[in-house]
Amino acid sequence: MSKVSRRGVFGYAGAAGIAGAAGVVVGQASASTDNGVPSRADGGILGQTYSPYGEHQAGIFTPKTQASELVAFDLLPQTDKAALGRLLRSWTGDVVALTEGRAAPADFAPDMPQPGNSFTALVGLGPAVFDLDGLQAKRPAGFQEIPPMQHDKLDQRWTGGDLLVWISADDATSVAHAARRFVTDAAPFATRRWSQRGSWRSVDATGQGVTGRNLFGQVDGSANPTGDVLTEAVVSDDDWLAGGTQLVVRRIEMDLVGWDEAVRDLQEASVGRRLDNGAPLTGGEEFEDLDLEAKDVDGELVIALDAHSRRSHPSHNSGRRMLRRGLNYTHDEWIDGEAVESSGLIFCAFQANIADQFIPVQRMLDQGDALNEWTTAIGSAVFVIPPGFQEGGWIGEGLFA
Ligand code: HEM
Repeated sequence: MSKVSRRGVFGYAGAAGIAGAAGVVVGQASASTDNGVPSRADGGILGQTYSPYGEHQAGIFTPKTQASELVAFDLLPQTDKAALGRLLRSWTGDVVALTEGRAAPADFAPDMPQPGNSFTALVGLGPAVFDLDGLQAKRPAGFQEIPPMQHDKLDQRWTGGDLLVWISADDATSVAHAARRFVTDAAPFATRRWSQRGSWRSVDATGQGVTGRNLFGQVDGSANPTGDVLTEAVVSDDDWLAGGTQLVVRRIEMDLVGWDEAVRDLQEASVGRRLDNGAPLTGGEEFEDLDLEAKDVDGELVIALDAHSRRSHPSHNSGRRMLRRGLNYTHDEWIDGEAVESSGLIFCAFQANIADQFIPVQRMLDQGDALNEWTTAIGSAVFVIPPGFQEGGWIGEGLFA
């Protein structure tokens, strides 16, 4: 087992992101303050150009962006280990060029990529990669699909996938352009299985990073770990994966109509945090920890036994933590002559070991989370996220060593 340096990652609480060793800012677009709103040059998180190189792939610890697309792929039957290596090298070329704001090799619209839009693209490997001849022994410890949960209503359409590219940027146009590039380059090896597009408002009016809100209006992401605790929770030290991580993607539909009917007190009680600023119902500011023992004047627990924040809290889960990086989605479909709408959260969580971290916490929530009344998982996928790479290297090369 090789050990990865724990010093490379640092974080800052809550702000729309977690700064990290990968994705170090190498340049910033110049500030545009003609509308009087200071941004960018004032330390905001918009308009960045991240480095594609580093200990971890960019897009894990870099601040959350406004627009994202996750594209999952199925391997073609003829794609063996060697062919997978060719695809990963080709995608690495795309990642490097697009992250630096240059046209990717054979780019069909070479004028579109530009620096200063906080672009990142993250590559993941699904379970079937570790069924390929020559790769079975490389399956990381704890990497497995999520077992069925009683509240799940999984749709194959949003479930599974042998490969993943997760593209993020300040704008959906750059994301859409990049997605075409990755899908086109994959064509000899893999076809698109699903795409999930999402957004996040990760800045305030001045361009400074903030935690951001999901479609229930909740501040979502406040209790994400930071510093050494973050590194410990997320970064793997397992053999070739050292410096990499594991990712769970759950498409969780949210019943917004039902939520709107609930009174505000009930909405706040279901999580144990205030809606206006995300602070615990037990007091303090957004980043204060919950006081799970606190009682009100009637002797009742302030944070209810079924409150989402209590049931997912590390103290109720043997210290288990993960890095959540969710995205809001809305999706319309035309079914039998009617527009059918689905809205929710593309719940994404990084951790070193899915079996030890996500699965037990998810079970705890499945068994008694107040939010279950309004939330239903309709898609599920898991990916190994290889470590970052240096100039001349490529994503996943450790698998082929
Ligand atoms: C649509 C579904 C979900 C919604 C709307 C939601 C919303 C929230 C909100 C508002 C918070 C409190 C603020 C924060 O710390 O971020 C929170 C905390 C948290 N959630 Fe969720 N969540 C959802 C699903 C999940 C799932 C599936 C898991 C993992 C299995 C999870 C794990 C956590 C954890 C670990 C915390 C932090 C608890 C703490 O340390 O205080 N959530 N969630």
